[in-house]
Amino acid sequence: MSLFWRIFSLNATGLIAAAALLLGPVTVSTPVLPAEALVVVVGLATLLAGNAIVLRLGLAPLRRLGRAMATADLLRPGARAVVAGPAEAAELITTYNAMLDRLESERAAGTARALLAQERERQRIARELHDEVGQTLTAVLLQLKRVADRAPEELRGEVGQAQEATRAGLDEIRRIARRLRPGVLEELGLVSALRSLAAEFTTHGLTVRHHITGDLPPLTEQSELVVYRVAQEGLTNTARHAGADRAEVRLRPLADGVELLVRDNGKGLGTAPEGAGIRGMRERALLIAADLSLEAGHHDGTEVRLRVPVTAGDR
Ligand SMILES: Nc1ncnc2c1ncn2[C@@H]1O[C@H](COP(=O)(O)OP(=O)(O)O)[C@@H](O)[C@H]1O
Ligand SMILES: [Mg+2]
Repeated sequence: MSLFWRIFSLNATGLIAAAALLLGPVTVSTPVLPAEALVVVVGLATLLAGNAIVLRLGLAPLRRLGRAMATADLLRPGARAVVAGPAEAAELITTYNAMLDRLESERAAGTARALLAQERERQRIARELHDEVGQTLTAVLLQLKRVADRAPEELRGEVGQAQEATRAGLDEIRRIARRLRPGVLEELGLVSALRSLAAEFTTHGLTVRHHITGDLPPLTEQSELVVYRVAQEGLTNTARHAGADRAEVRLRPLADGVELLVRDNGKGLGTAPEGAGIRGMRERALLIAADLSLEAGHHDGTEVRLRVPVTAGDR
């Protein structure tokens, strides 16, 4: 029954009962006798208590709905408010749940488009860096070599330095291009790409190990890219924020998929709010229906875990 009819019928019953009593055997004197006052007070109190109970029970689902709305997060989809209570509340909760369905699917489609565009743009920039700037610097390097061959003795040192600087610039550009477009992923596959990622992040202060075990089921191109990007962001965060000296990248098969684990022994996530990096990981995980969790490590540090489902169609 709707909240309207619950309250209406409760009050109507109370008032009709009072009127019936007045028309019937009951009299009210002036001034009011104590016994009569008692009857009136008890009647009023009963009516008020009835109203309070009906309203409280009827509005409780709305309060729960308010809490669900306040904590709804499209990056953690799937949570729905329980449909309960009087008709008005149940209808509102159903509409809210339908709105979440719509928002989540729109968000997923929008994210997929944005990430695809981002990957394409990265590839374009990587290609241009490699083809344009890279070619120009290579030409400069050759020119410098010719100059060095003909330069008088006292200029050779300086020309040599210019050659060194140009060579360093070329290396830097190749590195940036590689980071923008995980070419190893296309050429050698995920396992080699993760190994080279671990090597890339190993510096004098940080040792990154990799454990890639077992027979991994084949992943789609999309899933491989998500695993790679999550590992890349996880290690970037380790290098940037954790102050760790050891980290590891693990990839292992599960009964129904693959699990990536990026773990460090640094200072841990703490209460830092999630930034664009972690949000990016969540969006990428959503894209392939993978499950992402970030938590404190067993002893200390941070653990990023990505569980990628592999459906029968992928095998
Ligand atoms: N491995 C980690 N160790 C310690 N703190 C971390 C780690 N990863 C993330 N954080 C914390 O979480 C915050 C959000 O990370 P992120 O979303 O990647 O944003 P950003 O890296 O741009 O700051 C970081 O600023 C940092 O404080
Ligand atoms: Mg980051």
